[in-house]
Amino acid sequence: MPSTCVIGLQWGDEAKGKVVDLLAPQFEIVVRFLGGANAGHTVVVGGDKFKLHHIPSGILTPSVMNLVTPGVVINPATILQEVETLTKRGVKVGSQNLMLSDRAHIVCPWHILEDQVLDGSPVAGENIGTTLRGIGPCYRDKVGRTFAFRLGDLYREDFRKRVFDTVAAKLRMLAGLSETPNASFPLDAEKIYEEYLDYANRMRPFVGDTTAYLLDAVDADKRILFEGAQGTMLDVDHGTYPFVTSSNASGAGVSAGSGVPFRKVEKCIGVSKAYTTRVGGGPFPTEQNNEIGQCIRDLGGEYGTTTGRPRRCGWFDVVAVRYGVRVSGVDSLAIMKLDVLSTLPEIQLGMSYELDGKKITHFPSHVDDLRRVVPVYETLPGWQSDISKVRQLKDLPMNARKYLDRISQVVDRPVGLVSVGADREATILD
Ligand code: IMP
Repeated sequence: MPSTCVIGLQWGDEAKGKVVDLLAPQFEIVVRFLGGANAGHTVVVGGDKFKLHHIPSGILTPSVMNLVTPGVVINPATILQEVETLTKRGVKVGSQNLMLSDRAHIVCPWHILEDQVLDGSPVAGENIGTTLRGIGPCYRDKVGRTFAFRLGDLYREDFRKRVFDTVAAKLRMLAGLSETPNASFPLDAEKIYEEYLDYANRMRPFVGDTTAYLLDAVDADKRILFEGAQGTMLDVDHGTYPFVTSSNASGAGVSAGSGVPFRKVEKCIGVSKAYTTRVGGGPFPTEQNNEIGQCIRDLGGEYGTTTGRPRRCGWFDVVAVRYGVRVSGVDSLAIMKLDVLSTLPEIQLGMSYELDGKKITHFPSHVDDLRRVVPVYETLPGWQSDISKVRQLKDLPMNARKYLDRISQVVDRPVGLVSVGADREATILD
């Protein structure tokens, strides 16, 4: 396999972790290049469920080196918890299979407070509904530079002084941002310094220069798999702004977040559910806020891995996925959770959008237009039989095959993988 990226085509939660886990044995390195503890990648092996937030899903494949690169924002407590949980469950995690970039930024307690103060602030309008993991504020400080901490900074002599200076400034800023008069914020510089020093010591075995490691790997023609987080529609530049995350969650982010030259990423697999989900605020044209949506939520277990929030559910949106495929440069599709639709007598595909009574061919750039579009549906017959044991395309019921063929045709990409259950085994590879 050439170096490949796995990118979500919708609003995240497309089951990318399962695809990465399946492909990992064919690669030497798996790279997580964006996002942070907002992500929740679930991998099920032999009925055992693993939930990962930062650590690449390649960690369950013993031969693979897993890298967390500069584009990721690391929550030290969460990542150490992941290491501990994996170790307790018998997965070996050490410097031989996990490296964290010293350039990656660190989520600090004030970022989480800022997320709480700002998400839902009337100044911002409709609530973005972030995961409240401090992701946006951490990326804001990264770009702003003044208050940012990179992992490597935790080992520098001025670390203590910088924590104290930053806490003083952040307390002033939080007081100014808060809608509540005289609000106080639990930021104790000494405590934070001690806490983060302890994290720094525990993370030390894993810290390294992932950029140098990857550039050497590229020169040595090593096979690299890039694990996307969130999805193309949540990309800060190309997604449904401002209802997005704060990094490039489309294929556009692979090179920037990892440090691997973009010309060295040879293949892109786009991952989409057989329907659509979204968690948090923002427009969702094919949403089914009715018994169909509830049925999909129940059968698909559509509750957030990280926050437990119920996900909004709806029909497959061809316009959004086709846009995602083109933005991310996708070669083939992985269609996930097809089994969830198995009980439905009819399935709808959102084929196009109408805006002010006219068919539009592009994906709207402004959310106000996206809010106003009316999807035009095509109805396909369901298959109404259990497909969870099917392992070959030819054994799928005819209507399930027709549904996949239609998606492939209208999205204009081949379907290379179909998932019919959570476990590694419940997969059809073409
Ligand atoms: P943030 O990334 O926590 O700032 O959240 C911004 C938006 O992205 C919110 O609508 C979140 O629900 C959404 N989001 C962030 N990470 C994920 C994810 O891993 N899956 C699905 N939605 C996500």
